[in-house]
Amino acid sequence: MGYQVIRNFQYDYLGQSYALVYPNLHKYPATMLPQIGIDILREFTKLRGSLLDPYCGSGSSFASGLECGFSEMEGYDLNPLAALISKVKFTKISIDDLTKTQQIFRNNIYDFLKDENNIKNLKRPHSITNIEFWFSKQVVDNLTTIKYFIDRIKEADIKDFFFIPFSETVRECSYTRNNEFKLYRMKSEDILNFNPDVIGVFFKKLSETIDLYVNFYLPKLSKSKVKVKVYASNFTPQNKLFDVVLTSPPYGDSRTTVAYGQFSTFTNEWLGIKNARKIDQILMGGGKKGYILTDGIIADYITQISKIDYKRALDVSAFYNDLQNSIQKVAASVNKYGKIIYVVGNRTVKTVLLPTDQFIAEKFEENGCKHIITYERSISNKVMPNKNSPTNKCGKTMNTMLYEYIVVCEKK
Ligand SMILES: C[S@@+](CC[C@H](N)C(=O)[O-])C[C@H]1O[C@@H](n2cnc3c(N)ncnc32)[C@H](O)[C@@H]1O
Repeated sequence: MGYQVIRNFQYDYLGQSYALVYPNLHKYPATMLPQIGIDILREFTKLRGSLLDPYCGSGSSFASGLECGFSEMEGYDLNPLAALISKVKFTKISIDDLTKTQQIFRNNIYDFLKDENNIKNLKRPHSITNIEFWFSKQVVDNLTTIKYFIDRIKEADIKDFFFIPFSETVRECSYTRNNEFKLYRMKSEDILNFNPDVIGVFFKKLSETIDLYVNFYLPKLSKSKVKVKVYASNFTPQNKLFDVVLTSPPYGDSRTTVAYGQFSTFTNEWLGIKNARKIDQILMGGGKKGYILTDGIIADYITQISKIDYKRALDVSAFYNDLQNSIQKVAASVNKYGKIIYVVGNRTVKTVLLPTDQFIAEKFEENGCKHIITYERSISNKVMPNKNSPTNKCGKTMNTMLYEYIVVCEKK
């Protein structure tokens, strides 16, 4: 029993990389392949009006929607860095304006740096926790200088654009180990030899970001009349119905799966976002643990977990409870016959494999929608941990996520 799942090899995209279609302007964890969105939209949707992504992250679903000719797209993400990346990728800015600002910016910064007293007079940010633990004094001085000049850019879209390379520079010039999504400090011996050229890194990243934007995003944005709106908040239904929902929700709470908030902490702090360290607590499944879910498809699985670890069962229930509430809102915001597409991973907790794809189909069915099909695809191409330690004992690992599920429903 359950909702039908078909193994669909077409959606594996063996050997293809994200960068092929829409290169990312900024690193982000657990991104969705835009190819999936493009092909699934082509297969299932005729209406090409409005598209909603309630968990938009770095905006892959907008890349898919743009490729398929949607005219209006709206996205939500509680993580301000995610909203910033999505917004910048899908906002039209003229090449002239960008390169002119780049030139003036460069001249201003180099003039400013000629006199050491200038830096001394700048106010250091107060919003960064443990600043000396994560950044050298010289790095703080240079980041403060760059931020000072970005804040003075008058045009809001260009200012946001400059924050993208700034954000990458913040991370690269901090004492974090750069190839990890969570915040781990470098070893002390590495810190001794770590002396990044912050201004150089920033300008290199700025040029690269402009190149990618101008070569990959701008031509497509210029050809289309699409309007993309992105909100740094959770999805709240307005008096508006969408033709299509395309999204990849988190597959578990941030603490035990992907720590989107932690990954984004420095940027959010440097950009002055309040409570930047608490974002993971407000993302799906991060809130209060109230009770164990006892009905529906997921109940038996949660009961199994509760026999091994009651507290974990409460955490897992909190996640599904949030997902259920969100599905109710999303379902109510879709036009009749509109398609709803969720791309999701099924995670294992305490050796119990949780059928999130089935849960999603069930909740949409309970909220006025019909499940059409679920495709199973291999994620061997995706940069994500697919092994974890079932007992939290180092060395004892098991494969958790080898497949991803594309759940397709239709509003009745
Ligand atoms: C799997 S990621 C989306 C990735 C995206 N498709 C991409 O390609 O970048 C899930 C996103 O959901 C966001 N998120 C988690 N809980 C949320 C909530 N309650 N409301 C809005 N966004 C949330 C996270 O910040 C994260 O960016």
